[in-house]
Amino acid sequence: MQLKIALLGGDGIGPEVLAESVKCLQAVAETFNHQFTYTKALIGAVAIEKHHTPLPDQALEICANADATLFGTIGTPEYDNDPSAKVRPEQGLLLLRKELGLYANIRPVKMFPEIIDNSPLSKKLVSGTDFEIYRELTGGIYYGEKSISEDETVATDLCTYSEIEISRIAHKAFKAAKKRRKKLTLVDKANVLETSRLWRRTVSTIAKSYPEVTLECLYIDNAAVQLLLNPSAFDIILTDNMFGDMLSDQGSVIIGSQGLLPSASIGEYHCMFEPVHGSFPQAKGMNKANPVAAIFSAALLLGHFGLKEESKAVIASVRKSFKKKIVTPDILGSSKYGTDYVGDFIADHITDIDDDMNMNDENIGLGKSTII
Ligand code: IPM
Ligand code: MN
Repeated sequence: MQLKIALLGGDGIGPEVLAESVKCLQAVAETFNHQFTYTKALIGAVAIEKHHTPLPDQALEICANADATLFGTIGTPEYDNDPSAKVRPEQGLLLLRKELGLYANIRPVKMFPEIIDNSPLSKKLVSGTDFEIYRELTGGIYYGEKSISEDETVATDLCTYSEIEISRIAHKAFKAAKKRRKKLTLVDKANVLETSRLWRRTVSTIAKSYPEVTLECLYIDNAAVQLLLNPSAFDIILTDNMFGDMLSDQGSVIIGSQGLLPSASIGEYHCMFEPVHGSFPQAKGMNKANPVAAIFSAALLLGHFGLKEESKAVIASVRKSFKKKIVTPDILGSSKYGTDYVGDFIADHITDIDDDMNMNDENIGLGKSTII
């Protein structure tokens, strides 16, 4: 298969982790005989510095013309600590999502037995965790009208949702539930918010077309509790932009590190793949950020284009790295392996399943792994 992939490293650790996921895509291309071509573009604080805008037209064009976009991370402490900044890095990402129409953000949260000890929660509790958050990505409070009073003492963020915005992602979520454990949990705040009541009404109506799927509705506050008390009870979680942002970071705590969760942002015409985590500015350039969320995002990209074996091969290789403890310090405090070493290991061990048995285990720990 030929794929044109746009690469948007962004700020902080974004470019570093993205480089590792590109290594893995290249390993897939070589192993499975595909042709992937890449075009880089600037977004976020780096784009503001160079072009005075967080999303230059050229970057948007590159993404719009690509088959898929692979995204790093966005945001820097300078802007975080300056709430009055008129232009912010994050606006670039929000505009890009909107312009590409990426309304469905899918965030899989899966516990792998190899790293279960890394979770701050008990093994018994987190074992079997395997859910997907369907986060609405181009509406709600993120995109509503914003205002601040002249004396800057009163501010407003409007939250608006339409039935169409809710139903298009709801259908995607129900279809996913149908193929999985057939349970869909709608998370909202319908006891307080009008938008949430619209979500409940719309989703309950759509549920009738999916009789094999059980619909459960939870308020966000209760969902936050249940997710920690019994994560394995969740299958598909459907929720709005803001609640989905929060719940997905909570999901990363269950799994044990923010460096592990990927996401797929899907629209009618475009798709983008992005780690759930932030730009981790403290680690920028230090070669210690976990590249796995970015690498798993590449696996989601492959799966999106029907390259199922390829996607599985990437995941299998990451699991080998877990098993051999070739991981960054967020997974194992004493680990001396850096971002690039972990990325190299994972890229080196992407094989098609038939080849897998021939892996020369002996050399792995030395970083000289060879496929014989
Ligand atoms: C995410 C991020 C973004 C979001 C930020 C960087 C705007 O936190 O993808 O979860 O809030 O959507
Ligand atoms: Mn977030």
